[in-house]
Amino acid sequence: MSHASAAYPSSVPVGVDTTRASIARVYDAALNGKDNYEVDRAVLAQVRTVAPQVNDLAWANRDFLIRVCRFLARMGVDQYLDLGSGLPTAENTHQVVQRVNPESRVVYVDNDPSVLAHGKALLASNSRTHIAEADIFAPLDVLGNEIVRTEFDFTRPIALFQIGTLHHYLGEDAPTLMQTYIDALPAGSFIAIAHFHDPETPDYSELAKKMEEKFIHSPMGSGRFRTRTEIQAMFGTTTLIEPGLVRCDDWWPDGPHLTPLSDVRHCILGGVGQKR
Ligand SMILES: C[S@@+](CC[C@H](N)C(=O)[O-])C[C@H]1O[C@@H](n2cnc3c(N)ncnc32)[C@H](O)[C@@H]1O
Repeated sequence: MSHASAAYPSSVPVGVDTTRASIARVYDAALNGKDNYEVDRAVLAQVRTVAPQVNDLAWANRDFLIRVCRFLARMGVDQYLDLGSGLPTAENTHQVVQRVNPESRVVYVDNDPSVLAHGKALLASNSRTHIAEADIFAPLDVLGNEIVRTEFDFTRPIALFQIGTLHHYLGEDAPTLMQTYIDALPAGSFIAIAHFHDPETPDYSELAKKMEEKFIHSPMGSGRFRTRTEIQAMFGTTTLIEPGLVRCDDWWPDGPHLTPLSDVRHCILGGVGQKR
């Protein structure tokens, strides 16, 4: 994969602004990726002043995504609409689900120029995986997108991911926008959500509030830590499958937690709902 670097301006795709933090690049930096700039790393440095283990938020989120992919692929789901795909990293959705079923179709959707450029390069030779440019918080645009319409069979179950995305939506109507997606999906479909969480407990609520303050007032400008009730509402009319809406680390973990969860890992929830 090519690596855009500030030292090699010609390798920076048109439209990538290296002076402003981007959600995708901040996340990449938290996962120890290389496709990020000083401005992105500075966001994490700021949050680190109140949450030294802030990178664990990204790891808890990403590991949840990988386990959800494996779980749904083994359940027989073979269509994935991954909203807010992020920069390619070690195990991407298509790699995990196509390992289980090579016929699986994946459409990534993002609006970040770096993500679109790297995604297109990575996927050039994979005919079952595509990347579409759209605003994931505008469901009708996504659902009407030509790639989405062409790639998926809307008479069979689809898995829709909003993993690590909705906390970047600052409006109050996330449940409504999610219900628009749910209404458009065929019966049997799944939605998976991971979201920053304010646990409303004396131990972790203050930490969540401090991280939110840092993220929102950083050059990235977003990162809401919502309550369980607020996050649960985003599952709309779907039914949560076991183990429900839980800390990401507790969603069908690969094994026992060998060390206690770091504090920030209490501040991100994940779950999977099924449309009956
Ligand atoms: C934190 S990353 C999560 C990546 C991946 N889903 C994961 O969980 O590993 C969030 C992604 O959502 C994308 N994103 C944020 N707002 C968006 C919007 N309005 N439309 C499309 N993509 C968006 C960002 O560009 C970024 O790639």
